Amino acid sequence: MIGMLPPWGAFALPLALLLQPVVSDDYTTTNNTTPHDNNKDCGCYVVSSGADSNTPEYFQYYRFYDFRNLAEGPGQYTKAPPLINNTQNAGEESVWDADVLNSDAWNVDWGIQNWSKPSTEDFPIPMVNSPANVYLLQNDDANNAFTYLTLRTSRLDDFQSAGEIENEQKNLMHCSMRMYGRVSGSKGAVAGFFTFYDDDNESDIEILTNDATDVIRYTNQPSVDKEGNEVQVASVAPTKLPRWDDWQTHRIDWLPKNSYWFLDGNQVAANTYSVPRIPSYLVMNMWSDGGTWSGNMSVGDSAEFHIQWIELIFNTSGPVEGPGGSRNDKRSMDLLEKRKAKGCEVVCKVDGVKQIGTPEVVSVNKSAAPGMMVPTWVVLFIGAVGLWVGL
Ligand SMILES: *[C@@H]1O[C@H](CO)[C@@H](O)[C@H](O)[C@H]1NC(C)=O
Ligand SMILES: *[C@@H]1O[C@H](CO)[C@@H](O)[C@H](O)[C@H]1NC(C)=O
Ligand SMILES: *[C@@H]1O[C@H](CO)[C@@H](O)[C@H](O)[C@H]1NC(C)=O
Ligand SMILES: *[C@@H]1O[C@H](CO)[C@@H](O)[C@H](O)[C@H]1NC(C)=O
Ligand SMILES: *[C@@H]1O[C@H](CO)[C@@H](O)[C@H](O)[C@H]1NC(C)=O
Ligand SMILES: *[C@@H]1O[C@H](CO)[C@@H](O)[C@H](O)[C@H]1NC(C)=O
Repeated sequence: MIGMLPPWGAFALPLALLLQPVVSDDYTTTNNTTPHDNNKDCGCYVVSSGADSNTPEYFQYYRFYDFRNLAEGPGQYTKAPPLINNTQNAGEESVWDADVLNSDAWNVDWGIQNWSKPSTEDFPIPMVNSPANVYLLQNDDANNAFTYLTLRTSRLDDFQSAGEIENEQKNLMHCSMRMYGRVSGSKGAVAGFFTFYDDDNESDIEILTNDATDVIRYTNQPSVDKEGNEVQVASVAPTKLPRWDDWQTHRIDWLPKNSYWFLDGNQVAANTYSVPRIPSYLVMNMWSDGGTWSGNMSVGDSAEFHIQWIELIFNTSGPVEGPGGSRNDKRSMDLLEKRKAKGCEVVCKVDGVKQIGTPEVVSVNKSAAPGMMVPTWVVLFIGAVGLWVGL
């Protein structure tokens, strides 16, 4: 990863290009809603999934959000913004690093949250999401000064200040989503990377700073039943994992009947309990509420979730723009329809590629009928190519 950082010259690229890779000349970059990032040739994407980590699953769309190259040079984002203070309990702070995190290129894909929740008997600490807990940081090494997105949570006397971002693609219907991140800071916080529709359709990766650094929680909600009792099968917490305070690739495969979770390419958890069935969206957050799951953070303490990139390989329910296609203009709608009609002529892989975030063509199926997905011979072909090139 680190060895693949572009030379400093690349930092001069326009922001829209850095946040949203150009797909092709056919599309504008500011409202590019055609999710085939970084390789315009790809018709669909194949992912190895399943209990054997070796079952091909096909998806129609691909997004790569890269936060690594956002600085103009070293030393630009090396200081975190000041912690939220006791009086800032309304989530009214403005967004930090607004030139990036409030740009058109950002806002078309992400929403920085400011909602709050009051204290309850089970969750005694009120929580307030503040946009000032979402910001950029930068590796403190002039020769390797990559940037990364940061979500922060901190404990005040009367409340917990939290950070959350939500992806605007609200109609994911099955996906493989990955994130290269790490978590650090005080005990009593939760870093979440998950699909969400409601409390009964949610598939989670959660890193609890109360846990040992080799434990991660993989859960399909609901994890508590209507009587308030824990549902044992809902959550899996493997141990002896690569430590979460170092950079690792975290991944959820949300399939029609199964959930699989991977860490650095290895399948570490699986579940068939309550696999989400409603179109959902990707959420990331850093929070605490004094409940038994998060635990309590001590007043004055804080913890951070750092993210270098997010990769989203997905299908949608209905058009990719969502109902009404309001996120797109007529021209790009037409181009999308054209692309769809091509079906899955060109299959791309996203794993085992030369550069993460740049899918590579693995097969071309000229006879693919419109809308038809990959026939068996292509799967066999991919397998054969895999053997042939020694993958
Ligand atoms: C994604 O959609 C395509 C086209 O409908 C379908 O063939 C494929 O099986 C879907 N993938 C998953 C994982 O459901
Ligand atoms: C809290 O922070 C805000 C914004 O930085 C500042 O205006 C205010 O004076 C601070 N309040 C206290 C009590 O420190
Ligand atoms: C929260 O964000 C929404 C949408 O950006 C905005 O309309 C609202 O005023 C914000 N609320 C607070 C408390 O800042
Ligand atoms: C998803 O939401 C629907 C509608 O609210 C609900 O019936 C269902 O139990 C939820 N969970 C799953 C896994 O389907
Ligand atoms: C967190 O602290 C509150 C008191 O502020 C207490 O009621 C609650 O039980 C504590 N939560 C845990 C998980 O210990
Ligand atoms: C997409 O971008 C073009 C050119 O910048 C603009 O004219 C159009 O209004 C945009 N459409 C949407 C839905 O934002």
